[in-house]
Amino acid sequence: LPEPGTVEFKDVTFGYPGAEAPVLSGISFTAKPGQTTAIIGSTGAGKTTLLNLIPRLYDATEGEILIGGVPLKELGREAISRNISAVPQRPYLFSGTIASNLRFGAQDASDEELWEALDIAQSTDFVTEREGQLESTISQGGTNVSGGQRQRLCIARALAAKPMTYLFDDSFSALDVNTDAKLRAALAEPTKDAAVIIVAQRVSTITEADQILVLDHGEIVARGTHEELLESSETYQEIVTS
Ligand code: GTP
Ligand code: MG
Repeated sequence: LPEPGTVEFKDVTFGYPGAEAPVLSGISFTAKPGQTTAIIGSTGAGKTTLLNLIPRLYDATEGEILIGGVPLKELGREAISRNISAVPQRPYLFSGTIASNLRFGAQDASDEELWEALDIAQSTDFVTEREGQLESTISQGGTNVSGGQRQRLCIARALAAKPMTYLFDDSFSALDVNTDAKLRAALAEPTKDAAVIIVAQRVSTITEADQILVLDHGEIVARGTHEELLESSETYQEIVTS
């Protein structure tokens, strides 16, 4: 069996219920633990849809997705949520405290572990400055927190769960370039044994990725490292220069 946390797509096709054309076709790749797999492509290419198939927000129409060699359908909801942390493109906080938001998916995390996660997510100052700190209140939808901060708290939430697989959907784009770089450097250690899949808008976020998948109209049109794609893919060159 492949290592736990490995994500395999085998010739996956997906169309939204009721829609005519598939949004994803013939998607095959393997995201290995200890590696970063990046997905890049223009808006509407199908990046979010692809990520959403992994925690089974939708099921593939054809083909198969496996985690650690086990088909998703055999894994069960509980195993999926325990092993996979997803930071969605529109990160969501619910009404409650910062601590309760961070413990969603990590009920047993100690305060110390929450502070560690916040530190990696570059949010220590933000939480320290709030009245009540970990117990300070978040309003429904996180509307009393800025978009970039919401994104960072959702990254901290993902880290607190200590999963084998991380999914980041465009999680770094609301951050300024400086914070983006610091956060990603801090992520290296806690995610080093996990399979990391990251959707990115900025090429600078993914130049170090072990493999980059270029998605165009629901198909992988090129794959390789940053250097390889600069040589081989016109679509990638266009993304880099746009
Ligand atoms: P950006 O986040 O804008 O960069 O795009 P993306 O690459 O994440 O694309 P996404 O996966 O969101 O969408 C791919 C295609 O699926 C687009 O044509 C969308 O209009 C369509 N789509 C996305 N969500 C839904 C949905 O819930 N229902 C239906 N019917 N279509 C959807
Ligand atoms: Mg998207």
